[in-house]
Amino acid sequence: MHIITSLSLHNTKTNLEKQISQTSSILESSRPCRINIFFEYHSYPRSPKKKRDAMAQKQSTDILELFNQKPLVKICAPMVRYTKLQFRTLLRQYDCDLVFTPMILADSFCKSPKARNNEFTTNLLDTPLITQFAANNVHDFVGASYLAAPHCDGVDLNCGCPQRWAKDMNLGCELLKTPQKIFQLVRECRNRIAKPFTVSVKTRIQKCDKDNVYLCKELEKCGVSFVTIHARTASNNVGPINEDALKLISESVQIPIIGNGGITNLESCYELQEKTGIKGVMVANGILNNPEIFMGVKVTSMECVQEWLDICYNSTLTLEVFDKTVSTNTTVIPEKPFNLTFQCFHHHLVFMLDKILSRRQRQIFNNLKTFSSTLDFLNENFGLRPQLFARERFLKTMPLKLNYDSRNSVYEELKPEVEEAKVGDFITYDYDKCDGKYFKSYDDIKKLNNSDCDWSNIFIENG
Ligand SMILES: Cc1cc2nc3c(=O)[nH]c(=O)nc-3n(C[C@H](O)[C@H](O)[C@H](O)COP(=O)(O)O)c2cc1C
Repeated sequence: MHIITSLSLHNTKTNLEKQISQTSSILESSRPCRINIFFEYHSYPRSPKKKRDAMAQKQSTDILELFNQKPLVKICAPMVRYTKLQFRTLLRQYDCDLVFTPMILADSFCKSPKARNNEFTTNLLDTPLITQFAANNVHDFVGASYLAAPHCDGVDLNCGCPQRWAKDMNLGCELLKTPQKIFQLVRECRNRIAKPFTVSVKTRIQKCDKDNVYLCKELEKCGVSFVTIHARTASNNVGPINEDALKLISESVQIPIIGNGGITNLESCYELQEKTGIKGVMVANGILNNPEIFMGVKVTSMECVQEWLDICYNSTLTLEVFDKTVSTNTTVIPEKPFNLTFQCFHHHLVFMLDKILSRRQRQIFNNLKTFSSTLDFLNENFGLRPQLFARERFLKTMPLKLNYDSRNSVYEELKPEVEEAKVGDFITYDYDKCDGKYFKSYDDIKKLNNSDCDWSNIFIENG
């Protein structure tokens, strides 16, 4: 007789020994038999006590509960350069149920504290939050996920980025050529980090329906929490999405499927759900133009623009400066503020004001180059000025000091002694040598490859 028993261990070695000994004594009293024991080991980084230490008072959210509670989970897509902390803070006020960080290169995140500090910030209000990584091996993906786990509610593997630099580095949709690799990354990550922390995948549809269904069914077996489908192929970046493929996928699996692509208003979120049976809807371009999209608002309101100014302005202040400013009441953003780039501040305004400004105004506004000229424009044309938050709100929106102490152990443990040569190793990026902004390094890659692809416009043009 074979007895198959599975021990799910959520805590200590002592507990493990106790459970084995209990199982053995039950078995000793029965007939001789062979025992197969399968261990499901959870390293439990988010046990309540440890989590409190690591995250100050940031609450976590059980994302899968959201899928149980909400008829349709409304999600802001990962967007490089754009879904940074300030924009996520804005979206939290407008019925957005879940927000993704921009894609972060997992290997830089593991190797460089500077990359971690630049690419990932969070605050007390920043939940539910999923951190998206680009990775192509277990040690980078699991290592980065383990590092990020105390500070977010789930991680996502990018299997959809179609850009040449990503393909050259064997990342993004290039991974779809080796689905076994994707399964391995998800399985290993799931085994290392206990639920309710989610491990998800964002991908595109592939040309063949069979491949789409196979991918999602196998991911389900690996323990993936949910899958997001950008329902366009890698070669068809714009235009209508493939609703039939989305429907087929969502009918083939039990896990939640999130639909993404071409959504511009709340009605079309529900229509897509009606047609395809998806459990969640994800929006990228539509939410840049209109952060209030999930409230059913048609065009960004001035209140929302005001909120954006306030969030950005307050994010440039330290607590000390905030306290001084309360008495002086000067609302000026210095030209090189801490925590905020002009590009981030201005680009979001360009998107939000797109339908509000006249053609002439747009020409002027879109070419502004400084905080002061942008603030003057908004004041002259709309009477808007940034306002200081109440102290309580200020404290909640301040970036938290993140502690990664001893969490690099998983990366170090999984890392092979000699790393496999990666495709495109010649463009492997050294974060610390590149002034901390890894996407800038694409300029160097372009020079190397003599490519005409402009990273700064990649997603705007191609979706
Ligand atoms: C500015 C921008 C940046 C993006 N960055 C990412 C990213 O970091 N990771 C990712 O998986 N997809 C990224 N995308 C793709 C979107 O997440 C989304 O799949 C795509 O834009 C289709 O959705 P939409 O039609 O609602 O725009 C980006 C898109 C845009 C517009």
